[in-house]
Amino acid sequence: MDSIKIAPSLLAADFADLAAEVARIEQHVDMLHLDIMDGHFVPNISFGMPVIESLRPHTDLLFDCHLMTTNPDVYFEDLRAAGGDLAMIHIEAMTDPTDAAAAARAAGLGFGLVVNPPTPIEAIEPFVELTDMVLIMSVHPGFGGQSFIPDVLGKVETARKWVDRGNLPVDIQIDGGINPDTARLAASAGANVFVAGTAIFRADDPVAAVARLRAAIDGE
Ligand code: DX5
Ligand code: ZN
Repeated sequence: MDSIKIAPSLLAADFADLAAEVARIEQHVDMLHLDIMDGHFVPNISFGMPVIESLRPHTDLLFDCHLMTTNPDVYFEDLRAAGGDLAMIHIEAMTDPTDAAAAARAAGLGFGLVVNPPTPIEAIEPFVELTDMVLIMSVHPGFGGQSFIPDVLGKVETARKWVDRGNLPVDIQIDGGINPDTARLAASAGANVFVAGTAIFRADDPVAAVARLRAAIDGE
């Protein structure tokens, strides 16, 4: 099993005080999950490159950039210039991401693919070897604070089989409605990277919330 990584989603943080929000948890987590929404691919608008660029000098954490946008590849150069590390794009936005994977790497970014709850995992099967990470959405993208959809766990199991059989250096990420209970389910299905927004940033003690997630995953 790949190492367990916790990726807080900034979407649930206080946008007026992002540097302080990140400073509170930075020593306790493995990357930051940045949800970029364009109001077109998903029915919501979050933040974009200027916010990422402003936050970059405040932390050395890896910036895991979840692009919920139409034409995600057009943003790769700007994303890298702003300080992004990993570009995660939806297979629903681009059915053949072969060129996009190459473009991300040419821009100096890591690359990953995302599948929405209704999308079969087979949609990404031909492209898994091109990725650093596969993200199985456990809510419909666009909003934080939604409930975990357990039906997606079968897709996590399938992705884990592909990665282990091929001995691929690919992380399996889960995003949406993650709390200690759902993290445990996702871990037992084979996920190793856990995005959590509400469960971390809306907790009274975000550091304790991260510890609770790790304990639930370890106890799986
Ligand atoms: C939803 C985003 C998620 C979201 C998760 O579109 O991709 O990353 O921030 O939020 P919680 O953990 O609150 O479900
Ligand atoms: Zn996300």
